[in-house]
Amino acid sequence: MEIIIRDTPESASVVAARIIAKQLRDKPDSILGLATGSTPLPLYRALIAMDLDWGKVTTFNLDEYIGLPREHPQTYHSFMWENLFRHTNVRPESVHIPDGNAADIPRHCSEYEEQIRAAGGIDIQVLGIGTDGHIGFNEPTSSLASRTRIKTLTRQTRADNARFFGSEDEVPKHVITMGIGTIMEARMNLLLAFGENKARAIAEAVEGPVTSFNPASALQMHPVVKVCLDEPAATGLKRADYYRWVDANKPAWQVF
Ligand code: F6R
Repeated sequence: MEIIIRDTPESASVVAARIIAKQLRDKPDSILGLATGSTPLPLYRALIAMDLDWGKVTTFNLDEYIGLPREHPQTYHSFMWENLFRHTNVRPESVHIPDGNAADIPRHCSEYEEQIRAAGGIDIQVLGIGTDGHIGFNEPTSSLASRTRIKTLTRQTRADNARFFGSEDEVPKHVITMGIGTIMEARMNLLLAFGENKARAIAEAVEGPVTSFNPASALQMHPVVKVCLDEPAATGLKRADYYRWVDANKPAWQVF
């Protein structure tokens, strides 16, 4: 894992945006895995400002709520179009987001996996992290080998996400999410976390044991993971000084 710590969410997101921009320049038909929530917003703003060519890019989102009408403002479909896609030249047919209203959810989930495979696999997967360590909506004790499937949100996650809805009761209980096994097949994972409320989940994910109690800790078993943090999210890290040292002493060819 490469831990990149910056003063603010914006400056950490610029690093993440440069990593994605390089990917799109090197391979214009890249396959990107994308996330929603508050965390990727500064990343998406930075990418929009870079005015990249999304004409050949294919995207797969991590997750979606089950049961909300597609045009509901809090679906991840609405989120992605509002906060990223409509500001780019991505082709609508190249955008993939799980369908939270699929009639046959298990079948839809296997088809989603098949679409990722058929596209050639994900080049870079963008991830946020829940206060309980979830990535995608793989809540604690999710199988570390899991694939895209239905999950039930924890009370903690519903409470955390109530800020986007009128109240906690309005947050759907069920979601479709890529599994940890799916995420682990991405060629690179780019995890972003901002704010002190993420510090514990990040410390456990980066420096704790690999355990389904903190699903993000599975990323320790992935060969290419970059973790972009602001200072408050890094406060629980015991080796923060080493990560800063590594970052400050990178060979020129590794600097983004
Ligand atoms: C969203 C997702 C979730 C969020 C996590 C953090 O697509 O997969 O894992 O990244 O719940 O949410 P925020 O960024 O709102 O704190």
